[in-house]
Amino acid sequence: MTPPSDLAYVPFISVENMMRLVHSIGIETVLRELAEAIEHDFTRWPMFDKTPRLGSHSDVGVIELMPTSDGDLYGFKYVNGHPSNTKQGLQTVTAFGLLAQVSSGYPVLLTEMTVLTALRTAATSAMAARHLAPKGAKTMAVIGNGAQSEFQSLAFKAVLGIEQVRLYDIDPAATAKCARNLAGSGLKVTSCSSSQEAMEGAQIVTTCTADKQYATILTDNMIGDGIHINAIGGDCPGKTELHKDILLRSDIFVEYPPQTRIEGEIQQLPEDYPVTELWQVITGQAEGRTSASQITLFDGVGFAIEDFSALKYVHQRALNTGHVQQLDMIADPDDPRDLFGMLSRAGEPG
Ligand SMILES: NC(=O)c1ccc[n+]([C@@H]2O[C@H](COP(=O)([O-])OP(=O)(O)OC[C@H]3O[C@@H](n4cnc5c(N)ncnc54)[C@H](O)[C@@H]3O)[C@@H](O)[C@H]2O)c1
Repeated sequence: MTPPSDLAYVPFISVENMMRLVHSIGIETVLRELAEAIEHDFTRWPMFDKTPRLGSHSDVGVIELMPTSDGDLYGFKYVNGHPSNTKQGLQTVTAFGLLAQVSSGYPVLLTEMTVLTALRTAATSAMAARHLAPKGAKTMAVIGNGAQSEFQSLAFKAVLGIEQVRLYDIDPAATAKCARNLAGSGLKVTSCSSSQEAMEGAQIVTTCTADKQYATILTDNMIGDGIHINAIGGDCPGKTELHKDILLRSDIFVEYPPQTRIEGEIQQLPEDYPVTELWQVITGQAEGRTSASQITLFDGVGFAIEDFSALKYVHQRALNTGHVQQLDMIADPDDPRDLFGMLSRAGEPG
């Protein structure tokens, strides 16, 4: 069989290579650079194709496809969300994604995105908080201490200058794991025995719990004036984290309203309830935080443009390193119209 031509190969980043790449750059630097890359693409928001992600729902979770394009490159992510997976030793969220050239449709990158999704979600949250959180915030409560929690904590340290995190999870083992992983990070870490205790002295609260139902992680009495809420765990129809009364007291900021109205905290509110699009705050077309007493809520569900930014970022960062393998993924017949001939010849003896 003739060996594949150059056109057959697609650069591929495995989980192992993604971890090597992140360590070679430094986790906090990656989080800062990703926040910049995502913010930059939010300033180009009108250029992108936008659609609510395509979800395939079951009793136990969801599998989603998240496509977008800026006219030059096209990207998509495959991602699942299965809150009961961890009971069977499986992760709640796994993902992989692809970047392609619009001009030819040929892929330029295939990569793991389980690690990358955690990084991009945390970078997006911290980038949003840069526009919405009270100035000089130093303490963040983190409710839900699973896979996302350390990434969120480090992004808020790297991008916003958070110095202390106050952790709470219904499972104390998750809190112990998060505290262990953050030891030596430079963050002061306090483990708490209730959400209420975690909220003490916090100017920001991140909710990143996983439950496939309407849950009430925070109640109205826990949210004082001036707090910024970074709610990322409610990201599916029927899956929310905040009591509706909190939403009614907050100014609400979202990624893409048609998707967030289906999946976010605001699914609890009427369809025409006013929300502000984050990209408009970033471009100066809408106001972010306007007073010290205002409660701001980033109702983050995760949008395809953030994955596009992350794919483009790792493509640029990884290409000329040793952290890329070449996958024989695109059939490349000598005559582009003779695919069958290529297959037939491959079956010939010798
Ligand atoms: N918005 C986004 O872009 C985005 C991206 C990735 C993940 N997510 C979502 O974030 C959530 C967390 O993801 P993960 O990968 O960390 O999941 P995980 O399963 O690893 O961790 C979730 C944690 O929440 C805890 N928990 C559940 N109910 C709780 C409650 N009532 N109070 C306190 N803790 C509680 C669990 O014990 C667990 O430790 C999921 O819902 C996931 O779908 C959102």
